[in-house]
Amino acid sequence: MRKPTILVTRRMPPAVEARLKRDYDARLNPDDRIYSSEELIAKAAGADGMLICSSDKITPEVVAHLPESVKIIATFSVGYEHIDVMACEARGVIATNTPGVLTDATADIAFLLILAAARRAYEAQTMLRQGQWTGWHTTMLLGIDLAGKRLGIFGMGRIGQAVARRALGFGMEIHYHNRSRLPQELEAGATYHPTLESLLQVSDVLSINAPSTPETRNILNAERIALLPDGAIVVNTARGDMVDDAALIGALRSGKLRAAGLDVFAGEPNLNKEYLSLPNAYLLPHIGSATIETRDRMGFTALDNLDAVLLHGRPAPNRLW
Ligand code: DGY
Repeated sequence: MRKPTILVTRRMPPAVEARLKRDYDARLNPDDRIYSSEELIAKAAGADGMLICSSDKITPEVVAHLPESVKIIATFSVGYEHIDVMACEARGVIATNTPGVLTDATADIAFLLILAAARRAYEAQTMLRQGQWTGWHTTMLLGIDLAGKRLGIFGMGRIGQAVARRALGFGMEIHYHNRSRLPQELEAGATYHPTLESLLQVSDVLSINAPSTPETRNILNAERIALLPDGAIVVNTARGDMVDDAALIGALRSGKLRAAGLDVFAGEPNLNKEYLSLPNAYLLPHIGSATIETRDRMGFTALDNLDAVLLHGRPAPNRLW
């Protein structure tokens, strides 16, 4: 029997590529070069499915020009702002993502950012590596305690809840804003805020864990940053386009905000260069889900979706429409 053909747009972890090769006629991308829209369409000729990443923009134009053969687009990511799901639905192309398998890895990085921002890890590391450390001082590189501080979580889905669990262990008080209030057992003592504005006012540390949607784009703008307590910390492990970069940079420069920890940026990898000159910005290159175990799970989950549709004729477990 003919193996279905999959266009794989990025290099995959070895275990994922092995499963792809075993079960599919896989068009791999060993050079890991990001394809243009035209290339995506051309390379998909005759393919039954596509395994893509958040670097691939599946716009309505791309969907409209995909070959008829493509039945499913599986993204190797939980975020799916790069896929026009409505266009997929209109053309009958199934779209899927990988929820639930990168929760802990991403929450760990959120906490790494919270700690790094609160304890001035970038400045400390730079001082030491550049030979500027003259010895122990009572007032050297003072950060702030997390214990007793209020953590505001914007977006209390799986990852937001995992950040909350970690924060409880650090003695923080949890507040959150979400489209809907969680059941009491999931809230685990956290205080619900029906509006983001109300949450911001009590957030000594703000963790952004909401999805990027037309409604949340640029949502953390100058007006909303002004609502945060003076000296607050902002951490983002979700998507960079939810933050107005100029406003955040201005607030980090003026001292309105103490620090930021950012793993995601608008226009990645071309982040706003002004961040690089800010000693109070702790910056990472989108490594929230970058563990061996998690990246394998993401690949296997994407494959489970492809397998369901292309090998077993079943509904995809993580269908987006
Ligand atoms: C995700 O899964 O959304 C990660 O951010 C990788 O894109």
